[in-house]
Amino acid sequence: MTDQAQLEKAKEHFAKLVKEQLDRVEEMKRSQGWTDYSKKERIVIGIVGGDGIGPYITKHAHAILKFILADDIKSGKVELRVIEGLTIENRVKVLKAIPDDVLVEIKKCDVILKGPTTTPKKGDRWPNIESANVAMRRELDLFANVRPMRVPAQGIDWIFFRENTEGSYILGSRGINVTDDLAFDFCVATTQGSERIIRLAFEHAKKNGINKVTVVTKANVIKTTDGKFLSVAEKVAMDYPGIKWDDWFIDIMTAKLIDEARRTEFRVMVMPNLYGDIITDEAAQIQGGVGTAGSANIGTKYAMFEAIHGSAPRMVEEGRAEYADPSSIIKAAAMLLNHIGRTESSKRLEFALDICTQFEKRIAITGRSSGASGEQFAHYLMETLSDCGLEAKWSRYSGRMP
Ligand code: IPM
Ligand code: MG
Repeated sequence: MTDQAQLEKAKEHFAKLVKEQLDRVEEMKRSQGWTDYSKKERIVIGIVGGDGIGPYITKHAHAILKFILADDIKSGKVELRVIEGLTIENRVKVLKAIPDDVLVEIKKCDVILKGPTTTPKKGDRWPNIESANVAMRRELDLFANVRPMRVPAQGIDWIFFRENTEGSYILGSRGINVTDDLAFDFCVATTQGSERIIRLAFEHAKKNGINKVTVVTKANVIKTTDGKFLSVAEKVAMDYPGIKWDDWFIDIMTAKLIDEARRTEFRVMVMPNLYGDIITDEAAQIQGGVGTAGSANIGTKYAMFEAIHGSAPRMVEEGRAEYADPSSIIKAAAMLLNHIGRTESSKRLEFALDICTQFEKRIAITGRSSGASGEQFAHYLMETLSDCGLEAKWSRYSGRMP
């Protein structure tokens, strides 16, 4: 190909992307209000096992939801619906991030509890198809990735609001190799996309009486997209005069999370997609490992709840899948309960998780047969959850009121 032809091809590719994003902006401008779950006659919760360790850990979260929601299920107010087929084998068969029939079923639900799904990367034994997570976030417009991390004993109480549909992710599979030697990826920020996530973070702070929001970017270098994110934050903050806000760069923020003297000052953090991806793994590690963190993917119409970690195919290959830690997806289930208005049940499940994983720790999961199995952990949790003195127990351990 001549230089001119390469240039034309790249221009055409870019023009197509720009057009799509302009359309998306218009769509966001038209977007509807939030689903009100209290007005729904029936809430359908889709349970998607995923692949790798996904089905192994998801079944425990499923059982716990069944237990907690027993009355709602009996009265027909809630339905738990298992959706099969979101496996790497099926996705590869049709070369799609989410097979069409699975997506149709997912869209019939209100909220989804999703196990991890394998994301191929260049050089894997799988074709390099798009991540199912990324596709689902885009298809259902789940713009907010909300990831709380708490270590009550150390005074850590963080909640991360990660922008979930734009940034470096939205065109992550649509970069271009202009020549064999020149590769481009694209990063996208829109006013609407930035505003809705930043506003959600401020709203969360306001509703929960937290008077500080921290905005994280790398706007000193990534001047256009992160620059936009930061300037939108500045504007949104004006609507919340009671809340102090500050902005940090992602590099120093990453360091501050391990600074024991400073880190407890952070409460609500909001950031573009890729930074949120990275820093929430760090935060999860501080909390006790990625196996302990849940993740809510929230849009105005749909919401999806998942573990923040991957599908750990190696654990399956080595026959250790039953020893995978289900607490992350159970935490996601607690977030789901809160989202659909079952706040009391959600709190109880969170307390039980704290007791089992942070305070009492009667059994330990190591990911190997040296530790407890997911099944044993789920039993322990269920037992803790059934204890009518649960709240008092949690108070005793944490030194705080429930
Ligand atoms: C996460 C995961 C995903 C992401 C992967 C699996 C695509 O790391 O949810 O944080 O990068 O968002
Ligand atoms: Mg991640």
